[in-house]
Amino acid sequence: MDYKEKLDIDNIPQHVAIIMDGNGRWAKEKGQMRLFGHATGVESVREALTAATEMKIKFLTLYAFSTENWNRPKAEVDGLMDLLVNTIASEIESLHNNDVRLLTIGDTNHLPDGCRNELLKAIERTASNKGTVLILALNYSAKLEIKQAIKRIAEKYKEGSIELDDIDDQLVHDHLYTAGIPDPELMIRTSGEIRISNFLLWQLAYSELHFTPVLWPDFKKEDFYRAVYEYQTRERRFGLIGEQLNELNKDD
Ligand code: IPE
Ligand code: IPE
Ligand code: MG
Repeated sequence: MDYKEKLDIDNIPQHVAIIMDGNGRWAKEKGQMRLFGHATGVESVREALTAATEMKIKFLTLYAFSTENWNRPKAEVDGLMDLLVNTIASEIESLHNNDVRLLTIGDTNHLPDGCRNELLKAIERTASNKGTVLILALNYSAKLEIKQAIKRIAEKYKEGSIELDDIDDQLVHDHLYTAGIPDPELMIRTSGEIRISNFLLWQLAYSELHFTPVLWPDFKKEDFYRAVYEYQTRERRFGLIGEQLNELNKDD
């Protein structure tokens, strides 16, 4: 089925987040080293970004490295950091020429210097671009993000710049890494695992979730179109009942 053709262009999510999982298993199936899987996964990142741009999805967040991933064997962690530096360095002009803006979320201050510098260069170079915003979650932990937000809010309360009643959804949102970015309407996880793995816990509160057995290096544009197509068949109720939604839609 050609899912791209079937998409309703008036119902494209503004923000899609993806847990890119399964590189290691993909490599193992082929009798290769895990790092070969990660390197091949970069091609899927290109596919996903192109598909997002074609669908006019404004924000694409990709979970690239969690705080827990530091506990992997050193050779794999080092290889992933090298891959990140080399990929950013080689893709920066192409990102810029495609009007893509690069952002990161996560504790990027604690990435190796080489990585941080390459990222800062790319973020600066693409800062005024107006097309798709590519958000890389690097050294990311949703629990850490929420803890940091709570600490900053508590400090503001202590110094008297906010009252207890000022702490609402908007204020919490404003203190997350994703301040100013709408919550993802759709979250995709590849590789068949059905869990969130410490990703965007606040922001995913009402996201539609799409789990696919496809391993990340096999994830192609068509898989992305399909996920968005399936998203469009869902009824997003936000706690209401179907009849109420029909009433609301009538007023549109
Ligand atoms: C996802 O693939 C990439 C990262 C977590 C960096 P994995 O490396 O987790 O691959 P599997 O899950 O072991 O197959
Ligand atoms: C989640 O994948 C993190 C990234 C994709 C970067 P993991 O492979 O680390 O997650 P778990 O360990 O299976 O939950
Ligand atoms: Mg994994």
